[in-house]
Amino acid sequence: MTVTLAPDDSGIAEAARLLAAGELAAFPTETVYGLGGDARDDRAVARIYEAKGRPSFNPLIVHLPDLAAVEQIAHLGPKARKLAAAFWPGPLTLVLPLRDGAGISPLVTAGLDTVAVRVPAHPLAQQLLRAFDGPLAAPSANPSGRVSPTRAAHVLEGLSGRIAAVLDGGPSAVGLESTILLADPEPVMLRPGGVPSEAIQALLGEAVAAGGDAGRPTSPGQLASHYAPGASVRLEATEAQAGELLVGFGAVQGRLTLSATGDLVEAAAALFDTLREADRLAGPGGRIAFAPVPQAGLGRAINDRLRRAAAPRD
Ligand code: TXA
Ligand code: MG
Repeated sequence: MTVTLAPDDSGIAEAARLLAAGELAAFPTETVYGLGGDARDDRAVARIYEAKGRPSFNPLIVHLPDLAAVEQIAHLGPKARKLAAAFWPGPLTLVLPLRDGAGISPLVTAGLDTVAVRVPAHPLAQQLLRAFDGPLAAPSANPSGRVSPTRAAHVLEGLSGRIAAVLDGGPSAVGLESTILLADPEPVMLRPGGVPSEAIQALLGEAVAAGGDAGRPTSPGQLASHYAPGASVRLEATEAQAGELLVGFGAVQGRLTLSATGDLVEAAAALFDTLREADRLAGPGGRIAFAPVPQAGLGRAINDRLRRAAAPRD
């Protein structure tokens, strides 16, 4: 049985209590819903992998309430510090050297000597982290390889009966996952996401190298077929072929649209919801086509997720 908790003091207290007891609770963040477990507790972290059916070589993001809490578990170089000041709390994950004796389960880092850390902005995530008073490991709250959840109902669709609770905070505002960045010594983009690479480049005043996409994934979220719906997916479509469900953007009109006005923020927030709805409408063995989305700003992260949704499946 998975209970749905209301976004109030008693819901937050109950989620924190379950997490302290080593149970799993999904919670809203501004990017997507996270599947939370105590990052210091090997058994809780093992349960996350089990609930998601995730290959155990994929390390998890640790969520903390503020920079002071991050400094307890990781070392920040000068660029990481600058980025943290500009973008935390918010949709940026930094991969940082792990502090000795940080107390993070090696299952979280998959045995690496680095740890991926994020300070979420969502008020409920903030309240939960403060009530729990510890680091929460939280991958997106969906079965491995499936579309990420942006609502509590999506979490239940994929994980009902496999986790103790979901804290219902309504729809996620950003709608796609955080940007993952290695900041020091040289910035490397491991996953495009909620903070556009242009904003990072502008802040650091230097180019950000693209990492993770060249065959061997440096960030396992970069496994080719990810975010996969049941239907097949075709990209860069300006009209529907026979039997295809077209998802429009801007001037390209479809049965659904990511944003009729061509607004990338609106499209990002709608992406995973629309992918689910298109999948449902297309039905088993169905076909979905997506209109082109410009490769700039949040468009990079949207196109990254769409390419993974379209990738051949094993
Ligand atoms: O927006 C988000 O980031 C969401 C919400 C819930 O915060 N979380 C999320 O987590 O997307 P997850 O577990 O689905 O994605 C974690 C990504 C994976 O691609 C993983 O490989 C990468 O972070 N990662 C974790 N630790 C890493 C490390 N030490 N080095 C490189 N990549 C790492
Ligand atoms: Mg995920």
